[in-house]
Amino acid sequence: MSYTPNPQRYDSMEYRRCGRSGLKLSAVSLGLWHNFGHIDPLENSRAILRTAFDAGITHFDLANNYGQPAGSAEENFGKILHEDFRSHRKEMIISTKAGWKMWEGPYGDWGSKKYLVESLEESLKRLKLDYVDIYYHHRPDPETPLEETMGALDLIVRQGKALYVGISSYHPQETKKACDILKQLGTPCLIHQPKYSMFDRWIEGGLLDVLEAEGVGCIPFSPLAQGLLTNKYLGGIPQDSRAARHLGNGAMEENQVTEENIARVRQLNELAQQRGQSLAQMALAWVVKDPRITTVLIGVSKPDQVKDSIKCLENYSFTGEELNRINEILK
Ligand SMILES: NC(=O)c1ccc[n+]([C@@H]2O[C@H](COP(=O)([O-])OP(=O)(O)OC[C@H]3O[C@@H](n4cnc5c(N)ncnc54)[C@H](OP(=O)(O)O)[C@@H]3O)[C@@H](O)[C@H]2O)c1
Repeated sequence: MSYTPNPQRYDSMEYRRCGRSGLKLSAVSLGLWHNFGHIDPLENSRAILRTAFDAGITHFDLANNYGQPAGSAEENFGKILHEDFRSHRKEMIISTKAGWKMWEGPYGDWGSKKYLVESLEESLKRLKLDYVDIYYHHRPDPETPLEETMGALDLIVRQGKALYVGISSYHPQETKKACDILKQLGTPCLIHQPKYSMFDRWIEGGLLDVLEAEGVGCIPFSPLAQGLLTNKYLGGIPQDSRAARHLGNGAMEENQVTEENIARVRQLNELAQQRGQSLAQMALAWVVKDPRITTVLIGVSKPDQVKDSIKCLENYSFTGEELNRINEILK
């Protein structure tokens, strides 16, 4: 069925400037790590993308290895993009990444110029695009000189194959060095993508300060700790949940649904109810409350989760008392 987007899609979404760049991103972005591969029903992926775009989400995050098999999320997104969103490409910010193992041999992993350039060629073919909006180095490479990896990002922008560049999971010192190199090359770092949620607060220990000082945006991933920070695991492990699917490659497993975690989730859920929010909404609001966060990067398995989660933007202010209570629960 042909798709006509909601004409009111820009009315209720908030758009935030990404660091000190000229680019604004929707305060909620959609990631395609899971639920967009060849193992997933294409029509559900399409429905999620339509729901997100209709709600004013403009930023869609991919990587070379997303989906099962690796690469299939880009293929499916490319297909849906051309079938449904072709005339709206200019309204979308599409990112992809390279940094994790993608093919055999010495040039299919980490951070060499050879890998980053070859991988983007493959991504563009799968996406059926001439360029992506943001190209990321997906994780730090302890062996390749940072000058080479950042040089590859700069080259790709000069070739017109990406408009902006970013880094993911770099620690504060590496981030500062990467930003310095990129600045010298004339391709400033747009954005950093770190893991961040109530259950993993490492970026509060220096990274956010570096990003603020450097004028770099921040897009936290796994803000719901892959679903743990919702009410879905309170009564056991639902069959259709991520934990029950045994997806591997860093996806959450049943053994992460521990009694200790669930005891915390139960208390957080009570607080969310007092605030008139679902726990998912409160957990996302807690991330978005910090003005240094440009956008929160959600994952969803169903269109309704998009609708539920974006309501986090209706209330992301917390009283001091609420924040203290959250800190107490998380201790
Ligand atoms: N840079 C990196 O290294 C890196 C690593 C990981 C992820 N990412 C990016 O971050 C994106 C998000 O990561 P993530 O999927 O782990 O994020 P997440 O938001 O922490 O978890 C998503 C999962 O939470 C559940 N969920 C979402 N909304 C819900 C709601 N309203 N109510 C109940 N449950 C809800 C769903 O679980 P069920 O499937 O169980 O329904 C969904 O699959 C990825 O798609 C990817 O783009 C980047």
